[in-house]
Amino acid sequence: MLSIADHACILDAATPHIVIERGVRLLHIWKLAETDAEHCAILLDHLNPPPGARILDAGCGVGEVARLMREQRPDLHFTLLNISQAQLDLAPAGMPQLLASFDDIPTPDESFDAVMFNHAICHAADWLTTFREAARVLRPGGRVLIYDMERQHGDNHLLAHHTHSTAWPWQQTRDTAALAGLDLVGVWFPEPVDTPLLRLMGDEAFYTTVFNGVRPMVMVLARDDSTNQGAQP
Ligand SMILES: C[S@@+](CC[C@H](N)C(=O)[O-])C[C@H]1O[C@@H](n2cnc3c(N)ncnc32)[C@H](O)[C@@H]1O
Repeated sequence: MLSIADHACILDAATPHIVIERGVRLLHIWKLAETDAEHCAILLDHLNPPPGARILDAGCGVGEVARLMREQRPDLHFTLLNISQAQLDLAPAGMPQLLASFDDIPTPDESFDAVMFNHAICHAADWLTTFREAARVLRPGGRVLIYDMERQHGDNHLLAHHTHSTAWPWQQTRDTAALAGLDLVGVWFPEPVDTPLLRLMGDEAFYTTVFNGVRPMVMVLARDDSTNQGAQP
């Protein structure tokens, strides 16, 4: 298994090529609408942040989700977090950037109203650690948006080997998040209208083998507001 540093190196080498030469700015397997803007509007509807919300885009890619959401909701304040400097270098201006892992977020407790992981928590080495860190930086009642893969059958062997990611049944994701004080608000399994990753890879047999048994999932969680995550007994 690659270390996070190795992973960042691979992404650093690949992303500028994808973004600049192929014009792909959303690093998503599936799209839920014809245009990138409509796709991100669907994700934003699920998160439904309050006016003026401070949102952490954890594993932000080149910040395209945040850029499109900000176009739709200029009142929102996005912070971009990534382990890849090359991706942050391609991100839009006017959004604070954090070069860091989502397992060790360099902001105080309760700094955000929402944290989103768009095809990002799949790269977590330990999902519970990542959820605990998201819960720590969320205000009580704050929300987490996950847009990612859900595993319906099979195992993660090929997925982990080829994409350094894992996909779990939605109940396992819900139960792991609950251990971090993040309670399920809702889960959806939308039908994709496009598979940009397949077009990028250009190898249907390989794509079908690696992504066998997974489907798109949108999950929204809320930090339990009856507990103080940082409090000691
Ligand atoms: C498949 S891309 C998705 C990018 C972006 N969220 C989007 O929607 O286009 C996965 C992203 O997670 C980032 N990532 C992976 N592991 C990370 C970690 N431990 N901490 C922060 N970012 C991470 C990668 O650098 C990359 O930007």
